[in-house]
Amino acid sequence: MKILAIETSCDDTCIAILDVKGEINSPSFNVLANEVASQIKVHQKYGGVYPMMAKREHQRNLVPVFTRALKQAKLLNSKFEIRNSKQIPNSKFEILNEILEREPELYKKIIPFLRKYKKPDVDLIAVTDGPGLEPCLWVGVNFAKALSFAWGIPVVPVNHIESHILVNLLENKVKFPSMALVVSGGHTQIILVKKIGSYKILGETRDDAAGECFDKCAKILGLGYPGGPAIAKLASQWKSEIRNPKSEIKLPRPMIGTKDYDFSFSGLKTAVLYADRKVTNKNLNYKKEMAAEVQQAIADVLIKKTLKAVKDLNAKTLILGGGVSANNELQKQFKLEAKNKKLKLDIIYPERNLSTDNALMTAITGFYHKKNLVNWKNIKVDGNLSI
Ligand code: KG4
Ligand code: ZN
Repeated sequence: MKILAIETSCDDTCIAILDVKGEINSPSFNVLANEVASQIKVHQKYGGVYPMMAKREHQRNLVPVFTRALKQAKLLNSKFEIRNSKQIPNSKFEILNEILEREPELYKKIIPFLRKYKKPDVDLIAVTDGPGLEPCLWVGVNFAKALSFAWGIPVVPVNHIESHILVNLLENKVKFPSMALVVSGGHTQIILVKKIGSYKILGETRDDAAGECFDKCAKILGLGYPGGPAIAKLASQWKSEIRNPKSEIKLPRPMIGTKDYDFSFSGLKTAVLYADRKVTNKNLNYKKEMAAEVQQAIADVLIKKTLKAVKDLNAKTLILGGGVSANNELQKQFKLEAKNKKLKLDIIYPERNLSTDNALMTAITGFYHKKNLVNWKNIKVDGNLSI
């Protein structure tokens, strides 16, 4: 079956097309397209994502990104090339107008697209319905509704957190129970995966997400957005320096010793702010040292709490997901610590471009939930949707 997936939960406009052979127990995935239009340039000057601006960008990007994906998948067929192709009747455009009432810019782009191209050979549409920024989620969902209505393709709504976990199944097998750590700009959760579709949140952040902490600390240090990669890059340069014990910066490791599996990262950002105020000469060496310490403080708590959960619940596989899981040092130190603790544990994480938001993860998750079809009229979004 061919799955078209749409993901617009934050600031990336993502479309993927996935061909799946075989059944739920032993699928074989063939990626036909995985397109992302990043809005980094738009949000960079503000140091964060502005939902209404992101919503506008999604409206502008969706049709071009979709067209690119179809072309890539060799599924883009112009109508006039096909003899006797049926035109979409005008009454259909009225309903499309209603569906996209709040997305006028998207409506303007989708109409000529639907007039020009015929229905592609796609069996299912998967779309993220939460969690995320609601104005952004709505653009993707309304796009899915419009295509479902115009072409008569069924839709399955998909959870974004579950997608960050299940993207790992593209290349890996997992043993249950598994433990998942989802660490992104919006979420930090330790989740027990009993099997695919059966989850229990063991702990989560009580305030800022780990990625948000990277981003806020990077902003204090005057680095770009997103902060995670910027901090990781500087931190990697610090390792080669000679440490001066007198100037050594030491940040707190919030909640590292508590018995629960929760996190708190807002204090870390405040500690960076205070430490930064005291420094008069904010030279590159200082920034490298601070970046390395921020990264280490975040990694220390993530690793300690997650491996505690792994041990307590006897998990066989640790699944990392979300933008922060692209952090090389975090990946390396997770493996090292698991080895030190003599845990029999497979640790898996997606390749870099699948750690951050993409629609391939939405397509894979849609496949596992292909039975949960929803009539396009009834799809809603939920910014706080839980796994
Ligand atoms: O999963 P994602 O693309 O979007 C959300 O769903 O939030 O995650 C984005 C977050 C940002 O906070 C970004 O700074 C962080 O992931 N990030 C990283 C790295 N790459 C992205 N954090 C640490 N190290 C990285 N290499
Ligand atoms: Zn995400």
